[in-house]
Amino acid sequence: MSCPVHPKPLKNKASLLFTFFIKRKSWLNGLFERSYTMKTGKVKLPGIEIVVANELSLVKDIMVNKVDKYPKNKLLHELLEPLLGDSIFTTNGCQWRKQRNLLTPAFASTSIGKVFVLMKQATDDMRERLSKVEAGSRFDMESEMTFITADIIFRTIMTTKLSSEEAQKITSAFTRFQEQSLKISMLRMFKIPLVFSYKEHKRIQAAKIIRGALEKVIRPRYEAVNNGEETQAVDILSSLLLTRDPDTGERFSFKEIVDQVSMLFLAGHETSASALSWLFYLLAEYPEIQEEAYQEIKTVVGDREIEATDLKKLKLVNAIFRETLRLYPPVGFMMREAAEKVTLRDKIIQAGQSVVISPWLIHRNKYNWEKPHDFNPKRFLEKQKTPIKSRYLPFGMGQRVCIGASFAMQEAVLIITSVLQHYRVEEVEGFKPQPVGRLTIRSENGIYVKLFKREDT
Ligand code: HEM
Repeated sequence: MSCPVHPKPLKNKASLLFTFFIKRKSWLNGLFERSYTMKTGKVKLPGIEIVVANELSLVKDIMVNKVDKYPKNKLLHELLEPLLGDSIFTTNGCQWRKQRNLLTPAFASTSIGKVFVLMKQATDDMRERLSKVEAGSRFDMESEMTFITADIIFRTIMTTKLSSEEAQKITSAFTRFQEQSLKISMLRMFKIPLVFSYKEHKRIQAAKIIRGALEKVIRPRYEAVNNGEETQAVDILSSLLLTRDPDTGERFSFKEIVDQVSMLFLAGHETSASALSWLFYLLAEYPEIQEEAYQEIKTVVGDREIEATDLKKLKLVNAIFRETLRLYPPVGFMMREAAEKVTLRDKIIQAGQSVVISPWLIHRNKYNWEKPHDFNPKRFLEKQKTPIKSRYLPFGMGQRVCIGASFAMQEAVLIITSVLQHYRVEEVEGFKPQPVGRLTIRSENGIYVKLFKREDT
């Protein structure tokens, strides 16, 4: 059986112009065979020089041992600023530490357990939508996964349901934001000032639509807290609204709250939507693995409703999600910059120069993983010769590790189980998704599958 889809690496050095055109579509298409196994690499373009750290010991130095020398990159901050403002994802130093301390309790394991009920209600609504899908028709799984994960974030962070019209408005604005951001970063990298302001305008408009939709929910809650009408934390938003800075005693300003919620909305749904869409493509391609997962679900859950305690018992379902994150890590690259002049193996990096770590490259490096392009979830159930911690980083690593990793695992296992318990997922003849690297790894032509209701449920 052939490997799941991935762009074929280039054999030779492409011309700068050619690279520009293919990378404009996706940076994944600009990778060479050697990109996967190199220890360090350099990407030199007219507007930027980036060092890629690919050797595991260097990755650990950057993300764990010498983390102060490699703060988050200013370019990424500038790129995401219209949407995320000064959110935890791109801040550094004391500002980041304060934000992380404020958000951590909301994502502690007990709090994640509490949001199970809200996640379950959203998956029940998803099942209702799926029940209306014609059996065997070409079904847009990517749109459904984007909707359900956005809805889960709305419900768990702000105790609000997301209507399909609102979801459509937000997700299409985000697609435009991603596309324009990629184009702008490419123009900057190639020092091309052409039509810059027009693209920037489109991008800012898209960010305004998303922030506007979130502000509509946050504004009345913000006022209720300030008027003393809301005094108890009922969800993640009220924890943020009620929290006071231990030094100044002040609360977050309205803008600061919108920054954090925008970031949680983006980081929390775009990543999960990407991973879950790829997962259903893989299950459609590998029916025998899907069947085993179904048998596991039948044994653990049977025909009753899924409960929070079932999730950890679904070992194969968990492993399938982890293997999907290995093959299609939603965050395909992580950007840092050197705080001072440093040397990475043979590369001298000047202060302010960009350093990139790519889970996509690390997860598909043949020296890190056996048969790296194969889909083999069972590798996560078998005893490994070397620990996977250093060579598996879909959620990042060290102090900037994803705050929502447990949230994402719980949500994913719940969604996968809710679908597989009732449906068989099949491939659409002749359809192959095309992976593209933007802010996250998505499919250029969407992800379509066929759904058939299981007779025996
Ligand atoms: C499959 C789903 C997810 C994946 C693959 C993922 C991946 C990542 C990665 C790789 C990072 C580190 C980025 C870096 O070091 O530059 C990160 C950070 C972060 N993620 Fe996630 N994430 C997921 C889901 C979530 C969810 C559900 C939430 C919250 C609801 C979330 C919130 C965050 C936050 C707040 C950060 C920034 C942490 C910091 O810098 O201190 N993520 N995520």
